[in-house]
Amino acid sequence: MKRDFLTVLDFSKEEIEAILRRAIDLKSGKDAGKCPLIGRSIGLLFEKPSTRTRVSFETAIYQLGAQSIYTSAGELQMGRGETIADTARTLSRYLDAVVIRTTNHSRIEEFALNATIPVINGLSDRHHPCQALADIMTVLEKRGRLEGIRFAFIGDGNNVANSLVEAAARMQIDLVIACPEGYEPNPEVLDRAREAEKGNIIILRDPREAAARADVIYTDVWVSMGQEQEAEKRREKFKAYQVNDALLSCAKDDAIVMHCLPAHRGEEITDSVMDGLHSVVFDQAENRLHSQKALLELLVK
Ligand code: CP
Ligand code: NVA
Repeated sequence: MKRDFLTVLDFSKEEIEAILRRAIDLKSGKDAGKCPLIGRSIGLLFEKPSTRTRVSFETAIYQLGAQSIYTSAGELQMGRGETIADTARTLSRYLDAVVIRTTNHSRIEEFALNATIPVINGLSDRHHPCQALADIMTVLEKRGRLEGIRFAFIGDGNNVANSLVEAAARMQIDLVIACPEGYEPNPEVLDRAREAEKGNIIILRDPREAAARADVIYTDVWVSMGQEQEAEKRREKFKAYQVNDALLSCAKDDAIVMHCLPAHRGEEITDSVMDGLHSVVFDQAENRLHSQKALLELLVK
């Protein structure tokens, strides 16, 4: 039976722990040069731009001994009206797994429903589960534990925030989100996460209150891909939510600063914080590679 990874809650706590352990092993160089997926083909269907997700997956696939096949929006017959279902059925006859980056989350759900191979969400408007895996791997590396970590997310309750909500629920992280009214994480995601676990997820308005005593300060862009027409309104709404030195001073002395990247420097995060001593953003970006190798090993049989 094929397994998909469309949202963090698709995996149990034990499965996520196993992925993190394996990712840390792989990062240490254990099993370097071993190619468990030799002879396999993994597709990347991307309907939005990407730097980290594309390159880390293509590298992960190569390092595992498999071949990656990348297609961008408009290159497939889907762009001329072939249905998602027929595309999924066809590609399942060639590929061993597929990573999809898309607009509406329902597109990846429809693909997964009709595919007989594992489908991995490489970002949709609703979720970014691969990012969350690398994020919690980074927290584990830097802090040695996840349970009870005070994790402050400052800014837009977007796809990245939604996946962090699910990761927090699964891994018993204390998540505090500071966002303007109307920009909370998706209510269905919140309900499902709160139902799934007794994780501690708090939403408030004041970024300083969220940052107080935090072990982790996390932010993401105020204008996600596909929201460009709202850019001006969003920049106005979020201007009190910048992660800067003053906000960082509210957190624990040894707090780490995280960002999924790409950053809009000078908007949601200042240069001084992004390039400062607390920032782990490039370790976080590197961990996309290791955690996705562990994920592929688990899903591709
Ligand atoms: N963090 C992330 O997914 O980056 P890309 O958009 O560059 O893939
Ligand atoms: N929230 C951002 C994440 C990019 C990795 C977006 O969807 O554009």
